Amino acid sequence: MGYLVGLLVIALAGLTSAVLYAPRQSPVVYPPPQGSAIQESYFAFQLKSFRRSLKECAEYWEIPWYRVQKLIDNNFEHASKDLQCLIRCAGVNSGWWDDLDGLRYTVIESYFQPDEDDTCYADRTKECIDQRLSSCKTDCAKAYESFMCYLQQYGSLKSSEEYIPLTRLEAIQVAVDCINILQVSDDLLNQISQGEIPDVPEVHCLYRCQYLGEGVYDTQYRFNFSRLYIRHYDTPSPEFLGEEIYSCAQSTLEANSDECTGVFRARECFPVSDRPSRTVTILTTAAGVALDQKRCEPPIYREPYLPEIPFIQIDPADIFTCCSDVDGSCKVACESLSLVKLGADSNAKGWKLHDLRSNCAPTLTPFWDCINTTLGSVQRGINWPGRLCCSLGMSPRCQNACAIAANQTELAVGCRHSDEQRLYGCVQRQEVGDSCCATARTSECLQACKDIFRTNQTPNRQQRDLLQSTCSNNNSNILLCIKEYIEVTENTNLKHCKQTP
Ligand SMILES: *[C@@H]1O[C@H](CO)[C@@H](O)[C@H](O)[C@H]1NC(C)=O
Ligand SMILES: *[C@@H]1O[C@H](CO)[C@@H](O)[C@H](O)[C@H]1NC(C)=O
Ligand SMILES: *[C@@H]1O[C@H](CO)[C@@H](O)[C@H](O)[C@H]1NC(C)=O
Ligand SMILES: *[C@@H]1O[C@H](CO)[C@@H](O)[C@H](O)[C@H]1NC(C)=O
Repeated sequence: MGYLVGLLVIALAGLTSAVLYAPRQSPVVYPPPQGSAIQESYFAFQLKSFRRSLKECAEYWEIPWYRVQKLIDNNFEHASKDLQCLIRCAGVNSGWWDDLDGLRYTVIESYFQPDEDDTCYADRTKECIDQRLSSCKTDCAKAYESFMCYLQQYGSLKSSEEYIPLTRLEAIQVAVDCINILQVSDDLLNQISQGEIPDVPEVHCLYRCQYLGEGVYDTQYRFNFSRLYIRHYDTPSPEFLGEEIYSCAQSTLEANSDECTGVFRARECFPVSDRPSRTVTILTTAAGVALDQKRCEPPIYREPYLPEIPFIQIDPADIFTCCSDVDGSCKVACESLSLVKLGADSNAKGWKLHDLRSNCAPTLTPFWDCINTTLGSVQRGINWPGRLCCSLGMSPRCQNACAIAANQTELAVGCRHSDEQRLYGCVQRQEVGDSCCATARTSECLQACKDIFRTNQTPNRQQRDLLQSTCSNNNSNILLCIKEYIEVTENTNLKHCKQTP
């Protein structure tokens, strides 16, 4: 369920980031005892077996388990497209796959056990991945092929539960919790939010709390370096697995009577990277969020929400930017404009613009220019079939990007593939639908055809009958087109899948 919970968290973040960052229930007694006396934090990390992440994904994608079992029995070979996507989903679910970054090998490694006398499993795996991933493949196929390389070259698939590193968003949540638990002062938060990490006792305890929450430190067993290795998937550092770092950290901890300080100083044993430390960037963001909460203002929608996306700036105009230039009833009218609704529904457009005209003075030239540009962007992609799906976007940023996109590529500006699977699923279906229905010769057939693609369900009897009766004369190519698509996605017949290697 972790995956579904994860999606839910993101969905909530989309509705209002205040919900996400609000202090949540944790096993910590509140208000907390002072300083290093705190033993517990919110343990946010998860352990999960590969089988469990598959199971959650099968539930999520409504793939019957007997098909998955059959795949497992066949050593995962010759997976059909939807089962390849299931493997990708399991990869996202357990943190070893990300459509943008690709394979996170520090994470996937923990699911496989090399043979004792095998010394070149790592090289073979790398070679296999280099070979199979070189061509232009879908994300599902890439994730599947990566997994297969590990399965066939690295070692046997373990059944044990393994450590899943927190996503950046989750790690920020842990940091916000820690800031609340430790009652970090505003002055200090101000400093941290600007990227300064002063060497003071409060900060030492903040690090300890963060490490506890992420599961890489434990009061009894101290640092867990296998997990630190996994956690730093951005900058894989085999040094974490060496003997040296272990003894260095151990002696630093022993040399400091204060546990928080020991933890803080032990970081000096960690591998040096040329990137800013993950923890620093997380604390910096979290400090900003915590400050916003204290000001009792709605939290500012901050950049780090989708940190790894390379932003392609298409059009800086965005309805929220326009609204920030005006006040009073005009601002209210502006903020109630939804780009998604404007794009999807021309009635809503008339209505809402009327509202805007009666509340905003025509003399507000920069404001109207801004609105005009934004509406221009909406208009540009009005015929893109994916437009219908924009309300499925989980974050406001993604909804906005969707509302001004004119094709699927442009979605990537604000919509992360791994977080916005419903949206991307819908867009794909609409695009296929659009290309099938485009050849309709009569409006009745067009309508019946569009109806088939409107929802994600398998078409019901009535829909199919209507399609048959309206499209069978002179539109039989449409029937073929739809049949092919529905078969690819709905058919649970393995024979069909085996034909495509
Ligand atoms: C460290 O983490 C690994 C991976 O989750 C786990 O197998 C191991 O038991 C942990 N070690 C300790 C001492 O907790
Ligand atoms: C709004 O933009 C359109 C082009 O998208 C332009 O023709 C029109 O003059 C603009 N109107 C105003 C008031 O700027
Ligand atoms: C999508 O739109 C962008 C920008 O308008 C364009 O460069 C790109 O070729 C388009 N992609 C497709 C698949 O149409
Ligand atoms: C089907 O197409 C043919 C010519 O291609 C035309 O003569 C006929 O009237 C069309 N039938 C219908 C029902 O549109």
